[in-house]
Amino acid sequence: MNTPGFIKGFSKYNRIEKTKLTALFAGDPEISKVLVDHLHPDPNKQALYEALTENAVSNYFLPFSIAPNFLINNIFHMVPMVTEESSVVAAASSAAKFWSEHGGFHTRVLARRKPGHVHFIWRGERETLVSFIEKITPGCFEVTAPFLLNMKSRGGGIISIQLRDQPEWPEEYYQLEVIFNTADAMGANLINSCLEIIARYMVEQAESSGISSQVEVIMAILSNYSPECIVECSVTTDISRLNGLHANMSGSGFAEKFCMAVDISHIDIYRAVTHNKGIFNGIDAVILATGNDFRAVEAAAHAYASRNGKYAGLSEAKITGNTLTFGLALPMMVGTVGGLTKVHPLAAAALKILGNPNADELMSVIASVGLASNFSAIRALITNGIQQGHMKLHLVNMLHQLGASVREKELATEFFDSKKVSQAALKDFLNDLRTRKSIQ
Ligand code: MEV
Repeated sequence: MNTPGFIKGFSKYNRIEKTKLTALFAGDPEISKVLVDHLHPDPNKQALYEALTENAVSNYFLPFSIAPNFLINNIFHMVPMVTEESSVVAAASSAAKFWSEHGGFHTRVLARRKPGHVHFIWRGERETLVSFIEKITPGCFEVTAPFLLNMKSRGGGIISIQLRDQPEWPEEYYQLEVIFNTADAMGANLINSCLEIIARYMVEQAESSGISSQVEVIMAILSNYSPECIVECSVTTDISRLNGLHANMSGSGFAEKFCMAVDISHIDIYRAVTHNKGIFNGIDAVILATGNDFRAVEAAAHAYASRNGKYAGLSEAKITGNTLTFGLALPMMVGTVGGLTKVHPLAAAALKILGNPNADELMSVIASVGLASNFSAIRALITNGIQQGHMKLHLVNMLHQLGASVREKELATEFFDSKKVSQAALKDFLNDLRTRKSIQ
């Protein structure tokens, strides 16, 4: 039983004290052991991981996997993926292999414009505001310039500053929209710092113009919605080359059913969400491996999936003559410099494995893995069903949960190779095995 209660100043305790308190709170001394067991043996490395967040009491391990054979814009990649879901890496790898034999993935980064906003109230005439903003815009560039020197040297900086308002917004509410190019950095911290500087400058300028009572800044923050930071990815094949993808289906039968399955994600939200979840199985895994922010990319992409007023699948498939084209477009703010990319040793290693890509190249890799995951999921769904492959890969986890020995694992893997895997069937198999063993 837990002993719930308010803990004052938890963050002030050291890790050992926090661990003890956590185990005490959980009412289970074993918790301490589990937490300690997963610390890094090298104290310097442990300190590095602990510094990533607050109140760290242990490390949470996930496998760092490789999906090989991703042919993207005619270059082969081995793609690092971090995920807890069995079959995600296998699915991405199998699609990568298939498409490497059919021309590979082709991508294009359409633009890389990242928006941020100073949200404010203006109590006055709109025309006066327009001229006030016009007057302070050069100053906004100037006050942020010293913070953007590095960014400028890498080709980035502020692209534009403009007033934004919408007829349906509350009467006195406006935004100053600042568009950034953050080059190869994700740039969230830099964008937010610049926006806060601009917000302060705006208030100072209002004060010195004697109109301070007219301006009230509400907040200054980047937007994770980035419909102008888009990556496109597609694969194309002659339909005849899909012959043999499934024993009971011709290439054209496969292509038609495939397109139908993708189209369903455009007409029904229940399917659209699951369809996109399958895309994010691959996308999140690469984003996590490379030290990027998967919440930001997910939030933007789900909003983008609703851009036509209705949530829909992010990918599209079509048959033109004898050709199947399957593609995906989504917003993606990721970086290959700054942030966690150098701090986390595995994120740095992941980027090295990818050949130290720039932001556009990383966007391309991530989108390709998303499309590959989507392809494999739909391929399985319209042929054998998702459970066949999924449960096979989940078999190891289930065996582990059921306390199977190494020998039992081997025998079960052999036995279920050609049979349907289920929790019940596995339990029966192990019971049978153990009973037979106890009789012998
Ligand atoms: C499971 O993690 C993902 C799928 O449900 C995706 C899909 O249905 O397209 C298989």
